[in-house]
Amino acid sequence: MDEIVALCRRRGFIFQSSEIYGGINGFWDYGPLGTELKRNLKNAWWHDVVQGELIGPDGNPVDIVGLDSTIIMHPKVWVASGHATGFNDPMVDCKASTQRYRADHLVVLGAIEPGARLYAFVQADDEQRAKSEKALLKYERRETLDPTRHVLRPFTAISDDERSRTQGPDAKEPGSLTAARQFNLMFKTLVGAIEDPANYAYLRPETAQGIFANFQNVVDSSRVKVPFGIAQMGKAFRNEVTPRNFTFRSREFEQMEIEFFIRPDTAVEWYGWWRQQRFRWWQSIGLSSSNLQLREHDRDELAHYAKAGAGVCDIEYKFPFTDPDFGELEGVAHRADFDLRQHAEHSGKGDKARYFDQEKNDRYFPHVIEPSAGADRGTLALLCEAYTRDETRASKVFLRFHPRMAPIKAGIFPLVNKDGMPEIAEKIWKELRKSHVVEFDEKQSIGKRYARMDEAGTPFCLTIDSQTIQDGTLTVRHRDDQRQERLPVGTIGSWLTDQIQGRFD
Ligand code: GAP
Repeated sequence: MDEIVALCRRRGFIFQSSEIYGGINGFWDYGPLGTELKRNLKNAWWHDVVQGELIGPDGNPVDIVGLDSTIIMHPKVWVASGHATGFNDPMVDCKASTQRYRADHLVVLGAIEPGARLYAFVQADDEQRAKSEKALLKYERRETLDPTRHVLRPFTAISDDERSRTQGPDAKEPGSLTAARQFNLMFKTLVGAIEDPANYAYLRPETAQGIFANFQNVVDSSRVKVPFGIAQMGKAFRNEVTPRNFTFRSREFEQMEIEFFIRPDTAVEWYGWWRQQRFRWWQSIGLSSSNLQLREHDRDELAHYAKAGAGVCDIEYKFPFTDPDFGELEGVAHRADFDLRQHAEHSGKGDKARYFDQEKNDRYFPHVIEPSAGADRGTLALLCEAYTRDETRASKVFLRFHPRMAPIKAGIFPLVNKDGMPEIAEKIWKELRKSHVVEFDEKQSIGKRYARMDEAGTPFCLTIDSQTIQDGTLTVRHRDDQRQERLPVGTIGSWLTDQIQGRFD
C-alpha cells in the first residue's frame, strides 16, 4: 500500500489536502491524473446506470432520473432520517497522547487476573499489535505469550477497573484511556450571521436524503412511475473518529447513490436484481472477480428499518490493507418505506405524501432498494487493482487500468524529432484530443516515454516513425504485454474508440 500511496503522490493521482501546511487528517486532493480517473469512474456510473439501457427483472427498461441537491439542507431532514440522534460512533480518547480511537476498533491484550496490566491496540494494526505484545512481555519478564492466561478481548467488553489498568496504543503508562462515549459524525456549521443554535445546520453525511426529500417534487414534475429510480452523485461529509487507509475512510468523500422506488410486494425480486447488477458493474470496469465479493449482512448487523426487509449486502473489494479480508465498496439495501414515511411525518405532509398509482388506483409509500457506492473507494480499488510490478520494465511498475478508466487513453510520440515526424505526430494528437484525453510527448528517449505512460496507466502508445512517412501507418504499443502492431493513421481514431469501449480481460 505504501508503494501505491507513493506512486499516487509522485504521478499526481492523489495528494494529501493542504500538504504545504502539514496536511489535514482525513482529507485528500486529486491531482491531474487522479481527477481524470475519478471522473471516468463517475461518468461510467452515470452513463451505465442513469442513461443506460438496463432491463429490469420485470422485462421493462429501467427508468432512472438524476438529481443534484444541496449539501446543506434543513436541519429537520437529519432529525427525520435519524442521523441527528443515531449517526454516532463510540469514541475513546487517550488523555496522555491526545489520540482518539474508535472503541469498536480497539482490542485489549492481557491476563484476566486482578491487577494484571493490559494493553490496547487497534485490531487491524499489525504494528500496534506487535508493539503491545512486546511491551506486555517486557512488563511480565516473559519470552512468549501464555495462551492459557493471555487473552484478547474487545475494548467495549472490559470493566472500568480493567480500563484503569490498560495502556493505550500511543501511551507510555496505563490509565489514560477514557470510557467510550457516543460521537455524532455530522459536521456542524452555521447558516447566517448570528451565532445561535437555531441557525445550526449540517453538511450532509449521505446524498440519499436529498433524494427522499425531493421524491414528491420529482414525481410531480416528471413522468416517472413506480418502479423508477432517482440517482445522485456528490460530496458527503463524516467527521470520522479515525480516518485511515488512505482515501478509504475519509472525512470528505463522494457518493454515487440510487434510490430505486418499487411496489412493496416486488422488493425481493428488485433487491436480488440490483445486487447482481451492481456486482457485475464493478467487474465491467476492471475489478477482477477474485478481488470482489458480495457479502449478505447478518441479521444482527441490520439497521432497524431493514430488519424485516428483503436484505442488505455489501459489495466488497480485497484492498491491500484489508487482505485477506475485504472492505466495503458499495452497499445494496432494501430500506423499505422508512425514509419516505419519516419525511412525510416530520414535514407534516402525512398521508398526502403517499404515491398515487393511477393504473391500480392505489395510494402507498413505495419501498426503496438503495445501491450506494463510494466514488473515492471505487477510485482506490481501481488503483489497487491496476498496480502491477514488473521488474523487467524501465518503470518497474505499470498501472493496468481498463482502457475506459485510464486517465490518458494514448501517448503520441514522434520516434525522433526530425524528418517531419513531430509535425505528423502533432497533427494526429490535435485530431485525437477532440474526443479523447491523449498526450503528446517528444522529450527524452522512446523507452523513457513508454515508462512514463506505463506508470500513468496509459493503455496505448502511438509512435510515428520513418515508415509512417512512407506508408501512412504508425506503431501501436500495448501497455500490458508490450506487443507492437502497425495500424493506418487514418483509422486510429475509430480504433481507439473501439478499444476504450471494448472488452477487457
Ligand atoms: N445512503 C447509504 C449510505 O450512505 P454507507 O454504507 O454509509 O451508506 C455508502 O455509505 C458508501 O459510501 C460506502 O459503501 C462507501 O463506499 C462510501 N463511504 C462511506 N463512508 C465513507 C468514508 N468515510 N470515506 C470514503 N467513503 C465512504
